[in-house]
Parts: sequence; structure tokens; C-alpha cells
Amino acid sequence: MASEENKRFISVDPKEASIPEIHKLLLGGITPRPIALVSTVSEDGINNLSPFSFYNAFGANPPIIVFSPARRGRDGSTKDTLNNLHQIKECVVQAVSYEMVQQVSLASTEYDADTDEFVKSGLTAIDSDIVKPKRVLESPFQMECVVQQIIPLGENKGSGNLVICEVVKIHVDETIMQDGVIEPNLIRLVGRSSANYYTKAFDCSMFEIEKPISTIGIGIDSLPDFIKHSKNLTGNELGKLGNIELLPLETEIKSFITSYKNQKININDIPKLLNGTDYHAVYAAGVAINHEDKVNSKRIIEISAKKALEQNDNAFAILALLSTTLIDN
Ligand SMILES: Cc1cc2nc3c(=O)[nH]c(=O)nc-3n(C[C@H](O)[C@H](O)[C@H](O)COP(=O)(O)O)c2cc1C
Repeated sequence: MASEENKRFISVDPKEASIPEIHKLLLGGITPRPIALVSTVSEDGINNLSPFSFYNAFGANPPIIVFSPARRGRDGSTKDTLNNLHQIKECVVQAVSYEMVQQVSLASTEYDADTDEFVKSGLTAIDSDIVKPKRVLESPFQMECVVQQIIPLGENKGSGNLVICEVVKIHVDETIMQDGVIEPNLIRLVGRSSANYYTKAFDCSMFEIEKPISTIGIGIDSLPDFIKHSKNLTGNELGKLGNIELLPLETEIKSFITSYKNQKININDIPKLLNGTDYHAVYAAGVAINHEDKVNSKRIIEISAKKALEQNDNAFAILALLSTTLIDN
């Protein structure tokens, strides 16, 4: 079984594939990536501005961020950003919002080292408090950084260079803050995907996963087999169920069933209920038809549990699912 399932994978040995092939696989499989818009300055005082999506934060104390200006795939030469950082070991790293992404894309053009990409991209250079390179006014989140270490990851075409930076000052546009935190729908950041794709990290792209902070979920392995192996529950639904702290006791399940018994349900209303979001009503319908039609009763109860999970009522969902084994008693 395991080897049958394995057949759908194409397995690649990086040593046997071309650099562009590996690069494309990494870009497609590691996405969306945050974008660092990096401002540097050369010894001659020429500003440089370039985006890098091989980038992330790696600690808060001290605050450390890392990005990687790789050697060019065409000839193995190093990029101006890296060359500048070897000269002046400071930079400003800024977040990229949807409102500025076209200008950022323009700044990624390979202008020669004498060209100021602030000027080319039309983005506004403002002074930093601590470091020499300029900040980008249009970015809602800017970090002044001092380079701690540059680690070359090779000398070949496409080899990365880890630029490890300590953040020495953070500037946040106050209009993107809500209740002391950065609100995704106000900062409106974008991420880099594969090919020419970018991702919006706001609006309908966002969703929440509720997680109990002080407790540990029972895990999918602790769910009863008929739930764990149900063909009707997805991995995400099982993930939510595995997050509950305790399986309910039999007495709780029985009183749950009782609380939904004897509700007046018109059989003709069931299709309409199944299309709606009221999982309590769907469950009551499942309970109501249990005497006449066990198979459909179970199916409808499962649907009520799925609807509850969709609305993050995990406690209801587990009670509903477990009730299918006790409903006759
Ligand atoms: C959104 C975006 C992300 C990028 N990420 C990287 C990256 O992580 N590493 C890299 O070497 N080049 C990356 N590039 C390409 C560089 O921005 C591009 O080579 C740039 O011209 C380098 O400029 P420089 O020579 O002035 O440093 C990216 C380009 C874009 C548009």
C-alpha cells in the first residue's frame, strides 16, 4: 500500500538535476515567501534597493533576520547588494505591501552598480536613525540592521550567501496597528510564489486556527477508529478533532443526545437544513429520523459535525460523532 501511494511522487536527486530545475522546485514548494526589500549603500555612496524572498526571522532576542542574495544563475557573479554589504555592513530591510509591489518588482531589475534603484523605482529614500543605508518611506514596516555575519554557501552559479543581520531599530507605521498588534488587513503584505505569482497575505487569503495555548490536544491517534478512519472526514477535520483536550464521557454524550430529542422536524425541510449553516438543526434532524432510517441518520449527524467543525465548534462535533454509537440506547 505504502509503495503504491509513493508512486505519485517524482523524486529528484539535486546532484543529478540542473540548477534551474532545482531552483524552480524550491520556488514552487517553498511558498509563499516573505519579501525583504533590502536597502544598502556602496562605499561610493550609491544607494541600492533589491527584493529578496529567501528571507525570514530567526530569533527575537537578539532580533535576527537572514536573507540570501545568491550568485547569479547565468554567470556566478555576485549581486550589488552583497558587494555593498561587504563594504558597509549595514542595511535596512523593509516589508513589501500590495500598494508598492510593482515598484519593488521594478527595483529587482539588474541595473548596474552605479544606478540608484530608489530613483529607478520611484520609491522615496528617507534617513535612517542608526545605519547609513536609507529607509523606504512607502513601506509600513522597516528594520535598520547591522550585519553580524555573511556566510557563503558555495562559489557556483546559484549559490546562496546567508546575510545574518541584527535588527537595531524597527519603524512601524502606526496606522497598521490594532490593539497593539500588526493587523494583516492593514499592513497588506504580499509574498512571493513560483513563476510570476505573488500572494496576498490579507483579506480572504487569511484564516484562523484556534489553538489552546495552555493545553495539549489528544491527537488523532486517540480518536475512536470509526472517526479516525471515516471516509467522510478530511485530514483538516481530524486535525481539529485531535486538538480537543478530552474525549467526552458516555454520560455527557447521552445527555447531549437527549437535549436534541423530541424536536419537531419536518422531513421535507431536511434538504434545506443540509444546505444551511445551522448544525444544531441538522443534528436534531439526524436524531429525529434515527428510528426510521439509521443509515441516513448517521450521514446527517456526520454532516452536522462537519458543519460544526467548519465553525470551530469542535466540542459539538466530537459529541455528535460519538453519539452515533449510542443514539439507539
Ligand atoms: C520578489 C523578488 C524576490 C527575489 N528574491 C531573491 C532572492 O531571495 N535571492 C536572490 O538572489 N535574488 C532574488 N531576487 C532577484 C533580485 O532582486 C535581483 O537579482 C536584483 O536585481 C539584485 O539586485 P542587486 O544586484 O542590485 O543586488 C528576487 C526578485 C524579486 C522580484
